Amino acid sequence: MNSGLEDVVAANTVLSDVDGANGRLIVRGISLDDLVSRRYEDVLALLWDGFFPLPADLAPALGAARAAIFAHVAAADPALLALPPVDAMRALLARLDDGEDGDSALRLVAAPAVFIPALLRRRQGLDAIAPDAARGHAADILTMLTGAVPTSQQAAALDRYLVTVADHGLNASTFAARVIASTRAGLTSSVLAALSALKGPLHGGAPGPVLDMLDAAGSPEAAPGWIEAELARGERLMGFGHRIYRVRDPRADALKAAVRLLAEAGAIDPARLALAEALEGSALAQLKAKKPDRPLDTNVEFYTALLLEALGFPREAFTGVFAMGRVGGWIAHAREQAETGRLIRPLSVYIGPEPQQAA
Ligand code: COA
Repeated sequence: MNSGLEDVVAANTVLSDVDGANGRLIVRGISLDDLVSRRYEDVLALLWDGFFPLPADLAPALGAARAAIFAHVAAADPALLALPPVDAMRALLARLDDGEDGDSALRLVAAPAVFIPALLRRRQGLDAIAPDAARGHAADILTMLTGAVPTSQQAAALDRYLVTVADHGLNASTFAARVIASTRAGLTSSVLAALSALKGPLHGGAPGPVLDMLDAAGSPEAAPGWIEAELARGERLMGFGHRIYRVRDPRADALKAAVRLLAEAGAIDPARLALAEALEGSALAQLKAKKPDRPLDTNVEFYTALLLEALGFPREAFTGVFAMGRVGGWIAHAREQAETGRLIRPLSVYIGPEPQQAA
């Protein structure tokens, strides 16, 4: 019995390879290092190639899907607005048809991108801002969030984030999507299951705690002492270490570069960046001293936190923003499972009581 299914291979996939030994993430034959210069729409087309008939440029079709999805925002009543953003988004998403074609897929990608900004605004008593089908996906998300057209650096930073998290092997949410798809239920059902797995704190919930850690450390000068005290108490530093990546987390490198671009453009608070850099440097040094045999490097969550905060997303919405990117991968895996896989039906070992013998 293997309760975490570690080392169990449950699918053949052409989609992505998490190569922990070499610190590489490969998406359909392309290394993440090279993929991050592309738009999210193009990475979506790459992931979906062969699973749906696709237009040469996916951007206009995705823009049209955002425009169509916006009508569902009106269904957000006060009870729904009182829920955490990712739960409210899940409820709105559940209203979509359970189709399996490319149009259903595009609507499911548009849904978190439209719903999260709209819900955040409506929760503040502001009107939701309608999408503009002609904008790029990332730029439109930021416009719907803030009401202002983002700079090219801000749009590029969000694009880079969405591409970075678009797919990552057979993680828990992707596996959930494949289990549902293996029953031949539709794409909305797969995405709902995946979203429900993603919201758990062991999966998609870590960037918020990174910001809590920065807040607690306080200042660059105080960071080393704060880290020392945390490690002495046996606490883990959020945003460091990874189960699979042993040499580097390529996603952390991709987002660190995006944070630098934002800094060069003056789009990130310099004091926040100075604190993060001091904390990262000190954390890496102290982790190395404490665990010389166990590489503990910066992981994707550390830079995700800085990036999404700088772009204006509140921390309670981070999981929803993660879903905006990962939804493309979930859909590709669901289609791959439906086309090439079998009904997923593992076994359990019964350890309960045997029935009583009749006297
Ligand atoms: N801070 C301090 N110590 C850490 C650590 C961290 N972030 N990550 C691992 N360690 C230590 C553990 O305490 C353990 O020490 P021990 O052998 O004395 O008990 C050792 O390194 C190995 O830890 P282990 O839990 O076996 O590593 P793992 O590969 O299973 O853990 C994580 C991977 C991600 C769960 C872990 O590194 C962690 O909890 N990180 C912080 C949370 C985080 O950033 N999550 C987002 C991941 S993308």
